Amino acid sequence: MLARLVQESILFELKLKDGLKNIIADPVQIQQILVNLVVNAVHAIQDDKGRKKEYFIRISTHEEVLTEEFVSRHPGSRTGNQVLISVEDNGIGMDEEILPKIFEPFFSTKGKDIGTGLGLATVYGIVKQNNAYIYVESTAGKRTNFKIYWPTTSEQRKSEKKERVYRKYKTHSECILVIEDDESVRNLACTALKSLGYEVFEAKDGLHALQIIDKHDLIQKLDLLFTDIIMPEMRGDDLAYKVRQLNPNIKILLSSGYTESQIYFKGDDKQTGYFKLNKPYTIQKLESKIRSVLNHRA
Ligand SMILES: Nc1ncnc2c1ncn2[C@@H]1O[C@H](COP(=O)(O)OP(=O)(O)O)[C@@H](O)[C@H]1O
Ligand SMILES: [Mg+2]
Repeated sequence: MLARLVQESILFELKLKDGLKNIIADPVQIQQILVNLVVNAVHAIQDDKGRKKEYFIRISTHEEVLTEEFVSRHPGSRTGNQVLISVEDNGIGMDEEILPKIFEPFFSTKGKDIGTGLGLATVYGIVKQNNAYIYVESTAGKRTNFKIYWPTTSEQRKSEKKERVYRKYKTHSECILVIEDDESVRNLACTALKSLGYEVFEAKDGLHALQIIDKHDLIQKLDLLFTDIIMPEMRGDDLAYKVRQLNPNIKILLSSGYTESQIYFKGDDKQTGYFKLNKPYTIQKLESKIRSVLNHRA
């Protein structure tokens, strides 16, 4: 999105470090900060009026430990682990007269149509709200570098936490037969389910499924039949019917593409244990659907 703000004649660089510590931040606010700083950088380059051959805007992130010494030189900053978000341009830069004013609301050196003077005031407000620290290095005619130091946290992201708990409970031991004629879809589903601990068998169509059930003696052992509907040889719903006659306790999860679903799927049928999963599905969707079907008590 930021790159779209920047003309082609400007080199737009992103140098983001992997494995940074987490920060607590509202993504919308981070976006506001970056958009304001990048728009200013674009203006600064336009105002430089082609005096340099190559212009760039560089956004980078690093981790830094701020020392007492740094903090004494930068009142308002805090010691400790911080993530540094840096936005740098080689546009017109600022002279020492305007530097102290730039964070003031309505301070602008731009014409009325371009500048409101609120961009940096907004950035400053967000930074303060989050106990972060911002400062700017700039040389008139050369460059400007805004640096934001954001305190890190040892907290995990909510989604990471959930993920962890989920993986820890990886005691799934149920037996699932996956029937799908599309090999790549089948591989994906089987790999995902195996990684969660399920015992997984696979077949490429209904007839093949019956052979697998016979060969591995699965009819009493099987907890769930997860099957595509439209397949060469035997269809998934015909297979489900046959398997249910042999063992009525086996749960059935039918999956089908959108148009077919219109015809066959009228929603989960909890009485019969025929559940449905529309294609295409994500792995997360598959995992949670399988779990809810298995947990369901008729
Ligand atoms: N990257 C930059 N290079 C040079 N000057 C800048 C830069 N960013 C901000 N400024 C200066 O700070 C002023 C205030 O910026 P801002 O609050 O975003 O208001 P506006 O962009 O509407 O003028 C700008 O008018 C400009 O003089
Ligand atoms: Mg601005």
